[in-house]
Amino acid sequence: MARILITSALPYINGIKHLGNLVGSQLPADLYARYCRARGHEVVFICATDEHGTPAELAAAKAGQPVAEYCKQMHAIQTDLAHGFRLSFDHYGRSSSARNYALTQHLAARLGQAGLIEEVSEEQVYSPTDGRFLPDRYIEGTCPNCGYERARGDQCENCTKQLDPTDLINPRSAVSGATDLEVRATRHLFLRQSTLRDTLDRWIDSQTSWPVLTTSIAKKWLHDGDGLQDRGITRDLDWGVPAQFDGAPWQGMEGKVFYVWFDAPIEYIAATAEWADANGLDDAAWQRWWRTDMGAGDVRYVQFMGKDNVPFHTLSFPATLIGSGEPWKLVDYIKSFNYLNYDGGQFSTSLGRGVFMDQALELLPADYWRWWLLSHAPENSDAEFTWENFQTSVNKDLADVLGNLVSRVTKFCRSKFGETVPEGGQTGPRELELMNVLAGHLASYETRMEAIEVRKSAQSLRAMWVAGNEYLQEAAPWSTFKTDPDQAAAQIRLALNLIRVYAIVARPFIPDTSVRIMAALASDDWSWPDDLAAALDILPAGHGFTVPDVLFAKITEDQRTEWEARFAGGTDQSGQRG
Ligand code: 2FM
Ligand code: ZN
Repeated sequence: MARILITSALPYINGIKHLGNLVGSQLPADLYARYCRARGHEVVFICATDEHGTPAELAAAKAGQPVAEYCKQMHAIQTDLAHGFRLSFDHYGRSSSARNYALTQHLAARLGQAGLIEEVSEEQVYSPTDGRFLPDRYIEGTCPNCGYERARGDQCENCTKQLDPTDLINPRSAVSGATDLEVRATRHLFLRQSTLRDTLDRWIDSQTSWPVLTTSIAKKWLHDGDGLQDRGITRDLDWGVPAQFDGAPWQGMEGKVFYVWFDAPIEYIAATAEWADANGLDDAAWQRWWRTDMGAGDVRYVQFMGKDNVPFHTLSFPATLIGSGEPWKLVDYIKSFNYLNYDGGQFSTSLGRGVFMDQALELLPADYWRWWLLSHAPENSDAEFTWENFQTSVNKDLADVLGNLVSRVTKFCRSKFGETVPEGGQTGPRELELMNVLAGHLASYETRMEAIEVRKSAQSLRAMWVAGNEYLQEAAPWSTFKTDPDQAAAQIRLALNLIRVYAIVARPFIPDTSVRIMAALASDDWSWPDDLAAALDILPAGHGFTVPDVLFAKITEDQRTEWEARFAGGTDQSGQRG
């Protein structure tokens, strides 16, 4: 049994996330967490809302609410939606927690003592119209790197380049739209991460198993242009962790806060402490996941995130942890994702284009979405959601292949043998052949899940379902029954057991359906089918079951057309969505 720490990138607090956000980190992280638990590993799975910085301030202003109140409310909404999608976090924290304040200020103090923080007088964009500096997302303009016209002052979401507000071409205030901007001097603290460049470079080189997407982005920021740049870690904002150092002020930094990207990843650790607090555990309980001097040396730490988050997780956050000189656990594996597009374009919050988490759950149960999103995860390239593809995938994989098999087997058994596993007969070469095929797919499923190859794992799972269908097609117990009821009984006994195995192995993808299947089969034995032959013999003759209601309803043409039109966007319906 291994100990596995899993974190998903923290969603910004500024509104309900769309399906592209969901599949870019939280959902695959949940898949992996569920799989690891099913294999008997000790897992802590952490996420939290990312509550500081300009996204929160801007969204609260738009909602006309004080920012603390806005964050509290949105955290509750995001928590509900996480439950709705069955995201099995052990803790869903808040980066505005007392734990994160304390830990962020502590790490800053350590970095200061190590000489890794310096005060810099820098030029910042000031808006006379707004009467304030415009850091990060308070400013928008054209990306100097790729020409994208809606790049933000902190990063271009099109090409992922990290930016400074002064880099933008044709900059404008995100608050007022004002373009009469000035550059004024202000003092800020910088993390001297460039001094850690060689250390980071060596550390990344030693991660030979990381996905290419992760290492290529990290390497780019280490070596392109002038190499790794020092980053400002304070901001002229009201909302955030006050720029203090273990309680001590830093002269000239009064009234400033730490940059959101400084405190957000620290919340991975702080949220684990929040988890311990919430469960009445002591500090050692979370430190054994995070401090190598407290037992975290044995932990495998896996992070999930979208590609735009990679520079912060491969460079800035490790620089914070390494630079502190304390024995913090560093990430072992970073699984990063490309983008999911929506029907020929991008998901757009402002245009109400695409499907957001709340809307998705109003249309269909979570498992439909989980299956499509995970089986089409944007792993090796950007992926695209289309209603046609969604309809095909749901109707074929879920309704025809899996749902239909469960329904046919249980209904046939009920009509011919009653609602108990039938006795009699013996399995023969055809059943042996099925087991061999299944064992092959199961082995590849396990290998792929362990490698976090999400799409390929879905393919292996589906192959197991298909093998079961093919077997039934050939064995045709409905025909066999007419001439040899005993043999039909043996075939159906195997098929009922097969359905139980499907429920177990499919649970990381479609947890609600798995629970429904197990309830119908009156089984509570979720142990992994390490010994497949034994697992296919768990439900004995005479064991009672019930026929479940339809597991998956097909998506009709009318539904597809209606949804296509409804979510095409064109009007601003952003509301709480962000
Ligand atoms: O890009 C984002 O959505 C960020 N809120 C991710 C933060 S991840 C972590 F470092 F906190
Ligand atoms: Zn760009």
